Amino acid sequence: MKINKNFLKLGENYLFLIISEKVKRFKEKFPKKDIISLGIGDVTLPVCEAAVSAGLKAIEEMASAETFKGYGPNNGYLFLREKICKSYSERGVNISVDEVFISDGSKSDIGNISDIFSNENVCLIPDPTYPVYVDSNIMAGREITYCNAEERNEFLPTPIPEYEKSDLIYICSPNNPTGAAYSHEQLKSWVDFALSRNSVILFDSAYEAFVSNDVPHSIFEIEGARKCAIEFRSFSKTAGFTGMRCAYTIISKELEYDDVKINELWSRRQSTKFNGVPYVIQRAAEATLSAEGKTQIKKNIDYYRKNAEIIMQKLRHAKVKFFGGINSPYIWMKCPESMKSWKFFDFILEDAGVIGIPGSGFGKNGENFFRLACFGNHERTEEAIERLCRSILKKL
Ligand code: MLT
Repeated sequence: MKINKNFLKLGENYLFLIISEKVKRFKEKFPKKDIISLGIGDVTLPVCEAAVSAGLKAIEEMASAETFKGYGPNNGYLFLREKICKSYSERGVNISVDEVFISDGSKSDIGNISDIFSNENVCLIPDPTYPVYVDSNIMAGREITYCNAEERNEFLPTPIPEYEKSDLIYICSPNNPTGAAYSHEQLKSWVDFALSRNSVILFDSAYEAFVSNDVPHSIFEIEGARKCAIEFRSFSKTAGFTGMRCAYTIISKELEYDDVKINELWSRRQSTKFNGVPYVIQRAAEATLSAEGKTQIKKNIDYYRKNAEIIMQKLRHAKVKFFGGINSPYIWMKCPESMKSWKFFDFILEDAGVIGIPGSGFGKNGENFFRLACFGNHERTEEAIERLCRSILKKL
């Protein structure tokens, strides 16, 4: 018996697990310390009314033989896929229902998409990055090259000849962790690069609901993307579904490699390894795309945006440099006096009782940075950032 030895090349633990274990140990040591988390990007506001009542109605349908549902369609119920297509068309993007694949999360889809591409492909992943892109390719044994997302390019690397060897190109915009978002022109340069190289762009737009200026919400707003990109979207951050689990992946029928339609290959993969998202959850997700649901979820997004404003205002006041926060629920702040990220994590936890995510956990270019999330409540967020700024000032 042999194991997949690629797993031994992974870091010992997933970043967010390392943090929660560190915090657990700290709490055991200082049980009285009041701790506020601006760490993992998990929503806190309840699921909107429209989704709750649709979900309740759907569970009642399960209680009667006439309306009971067993296995659903593998790629998702038509009612949800139609609503998703409508929401794209409202932004001028045409997607057909058979290009939409409903799933239980973007994390799973982004990790699993790797199944349908050869392990001989080389990946191009930004540094810093969402750890799933890296870990899932290490598991597959693929070669990874990194593109530098740094202060000098405002954390938005664009294609250069050195990236010549890149087949699977990962882009997250608005970005986790830096909060940076690509403009139309910048994304177009990636689409042109991918088309010229016969590469595929794996476009993670889990945070598109936070876009507040004219940057693209979808890679399909860019001409040519239907022939070179796959888009991953989620109800998690958009509609507070982190505990409900529903997402979707868009694969155009024009996307082909090795003369094979990727849409059909993914459908084949999903029908073998995935049995779909519960009917009740899909009904709840559908309701978030109704007029009433959209208003309700926008209210929640605006609430989180206000947290970002609170944080940004206090950081400006304390003269702390930061990025993000405009089109994203994440603020990417510079650690004072070039302090190492993990050192800053320990210092802020001990001194201020605040949890953030050390930038170096997202890659070497994240060193000396610290990520703050905006998913808490106003009062506690304000308290946390005040404490954090006080600790910084004390240190300087
Ligand atoms: C994060 O904090 O980066 C997110 O919670 C990660 C995720 O959505 O899986």
